[in-house]
Amino acid sequence: MEKPLVSLRKVSKFIDGERILKDISLDIFRGEFVSVVGASGSGKSSLLYILGLIDSPTEGKVFFEGEEVRFTEEKRLSRIRNRKLGFVFQFHYLLPEFSALENVMVPMLKAGTGGKSARERASELLKRVGLTGKENRKPYQLSGGEQQRVAIARALANDPLLILADEPTGNLDSRNTEVVMDIFMELHREGRTIVMVTHEDYLAKRAQRILHMKDGRLM
Ligand SMILES: Nc1ncnc2c1ncn2[C@@H]1O[C@H](COP(=O)(O)OP(=O)(O)OP(=O)(O)O)[C@@H](O)[C@H]1O
Ligand SMILES: [Mg+2]
Repeated sequence: MEKPLVSLRKVSKFIDGERILKDISLDIFRGEFVSVVGASGSGKSSLLYILGLIDSPTEGKVFFEGEEVRFTEEKRLSRIRNRKLGFVFQFHYLLPEFSALENVMVPMLKAGTGGKSARERASELLKRVGLTGKENRKPYQLSGGEQQRVAIARALANDPLLILADEPTGNLDSRNTEVVMDIFMELHREGRTIVMVTHEDYLAKRAQRILHMKDGRLM
């Protein structure tokens, strides 16, 4: 039997008395590429935050690598997030005053990697996403698609087990969407586990499994 990487058991989330996630039980297995679709406000991002151990459920349990996650242990949690998870958001949240290279180095430095190795690996990752020659540019000197690729390189910095992406192509034109999707497909072929939220059915279909959210429920 394959072991799940992340599992939710009867997870609900209440905000201001409103239940935004309802009784969700779900297993994400190693090596899976899963997409999440659903109307705006259906709870896709909220689900991703819980899968990514960013937010805690109001009810229910979350397991990561078979162990129950204790959301009160903030230090331990941030260590797991830094070492084992990679996030790509719709808006990339790159640090504007840092170069592309430095942005990719940050999670590695945070994890205790030495400056020289961090620099080398960041440079390799930027090469991988097709940004060789642009390492020293600040985010504002890069196109939207290029910024998103820096964000993907940053998400890969510490060789994460699980990549969580919230509409990673939401702000991109069709050409850049394909570039970013090609990177995700390649990461999947390499055996990475990916959960991607998208509004586009044709992109969702490229995953192995599609999760449909409706009014906070998994359909
Ligand atoms: N921090 C919060 N405070 C209050 N309400 C919230 C918060 N986060 C999410 N919600 C509410 O929870 C519901 C689900 O939001 P969520 O962001 O998960 O939807 P979504 O499916 O990602 O939508 P979209 O496609 O627009 O990104 C919405 O009704 C939203 O208003
Ligand atoms: Mg969302």
